[in-house]
Amino acid sequence: MQRTLTILKPDTVAAHRCGAIIDRLEREGFAILGVRRLHLERAQAEAFYAVHRERPFFASLVKFMTEGPVWVMALERDEAVAHLRAVMGATDPAKAAPGTIRADFATSIERNAIHGSDSPENAAIELAFFFTGSELV
Ligand code: RTP
Ligand code: MG
Repeated sequence: MQRTLTILKPDTVAAHRCGAIIDRLEREGFAILGVRRLHLERAQAEAFYAVHRERPFFASLVKFMTEGPVWVMALERDEAVAHLRAVMGATDPAKAAPGTIRADFATSIERNAIHGSDSPENAAIELAFFFTGSELV
């Protein structure tokens, strides 16, 4: 079993689609070990996406991620990191495979509904960003 981190982004929360996406994740065999609903502060969003600090879309991404509440969840299943990325689909919904979450819920390359950790190493870092070990049992 492996753990990964997902964020249902502000576009998903505003559109009341959290339940629909969580339903898909549970059907895909993910167990939800932890859930937090929070409105990210600017510094938190900047730190979470620090790897993109030099990218041209960074300021816009931080503005988007702080425009309203998000749901952060710790997920568990076998091959959780790779499987979540597969069911999320490509960053740009125009390139996301049919049936993926982003193909069905995202509205642009930025407003793309969901985040998923991109490696087991980053999953561990991102899980620790939002949850203490004793919260995920
Ligand atoms: P994420 O980290 O949120 O799971 O998304 P990802 O791995 O598929 O994509 P990544 O390259 O890590 O980009 C992080 C988020 O930045 C926004 N973005 N905007 N305007 C643009 O060209 C652009 N490119 C990326 C998206 O919200 C993307 O998910
Ligand atoms: Mg990423």
